[in-house]
Amino acid sequence: MQIKEKINEIKNQFDSDFILLSSDKIDKNTISYKYLGRKGLLSTIYPLLSSCDNKDKPKVGKLINDLKTYIDDSLSSVVSNQNSSNFNKTIDITLPENQLSSGSIHPLTKIVNEIESIFQKIGFSSVYGSEIETDYYNFEALNIPKHHPARDMQDTFYTDHSTLLRTHTSGSQIHHMENNTPPVRILSPGRVYRNEDISVRSYCLFHQIEGLYVDRNVTFSDLKSTLEYFAKEFFGSDIKTRFRPSYFPFTEPSAEMDVYWGLNNESDYRITKGTGWLEILGCGMVDPEVFKSVNYDAKMYSGFAFGLGIERIAMLKYGIDDIRLFYNGDIKFLRQFK
Ligand code: PHE
Repeated sequence: MQIKEKINEIKNQFDSDFILLSSDKIDKNTISYKYLGRKGLLSTIYPLLSSCDNKDKPKVGKLINDLKTYIDDSLSSVVSNQNSSNFNKTIDITLPENQLSSGSIHPLTKIVNEIESIFQKIGFSSVYGSEIETDYYNFEALNIPKHHPARDMQDTFYTDHSTLLRTHTSGSQIHHMENNTPPVRILSPGRVYRNEDISVRSYCLFHQIEGLYVDRNVTFSDLKSTLEYFAKEFFGSDIKTRFRPSYFPFTEPSAEMDVYWGLNNESDYRITKGTGWLEILGCGMVDPEVFKSVNYDAKMYSGFAFGLGIERIAMLKYGIDDIRLFYNGDIKFLRQFK
């Protein structure tokens, strides 16, 4: 019977293709298409059914179905074999094991730790203040009365009319002096907030380290030499620094210290506003008005204070030209600081 021969012929052909399949000479999709596809070999059998005797039709129909099942089953068994043999190929047991990824210290924390240890060597210890502060400690006691124009220098986030997110760490000076008598030598690191436009240079929060030194006979030259010592320890002995006169209500006289960043590329111009210099701190001799608010005798004592901007220093040290990188938690950025 012609149709039975045809079925056998297709089965034999499939068997020989199937052997090629297991030796990877032909792929499973090609075979599947060749036999089971819409115009595949199985589809050529059906037209022959019409020439069969009616009584033979169920038997022949079954033979066709059996062949189809046989091909289906054979192919699907090969699929899983092929998958698992490919899988084996992708495992190279000679490769080193995956490294466990460990956390890293945030660059700002690194800078704070480093600065604390530099000042520790000359007798400064650290105290910590709270980020929510009263108007009195953030402004009033620092010689910035209500309606004083200096309040405009620091656009403040108020939580209500007398409490606020501190705009600088200088309030820590007052807290500390209220509870201690001179000599005083402290650092106070922490986060501060200002309502500023967000850009590569400024953000709505940043970090400062406050420094305060009060004793008998403390002079402006003590201030300068202390900060120069710090700059050399931190940036290296060939760092260039300069002091510029400035104004803060709580220090008199006041200054700002810049360090030389250079003008080597376009981003140096952007960061330093074309000068090559970057301001890293404000400082000055503690104003007698501040001593008055903490009941220190300004005739007996003098002192200096300074406030360092941590982000500025971190940007300088690591060559980072966008301040926002510190706050967005990007692992690719943070991983660089071990
Ligand atoms: N508090 C000042 C600021 O935030 C910095 C400063 C601190 C200046 C201490 C003088 C003395 O800009």
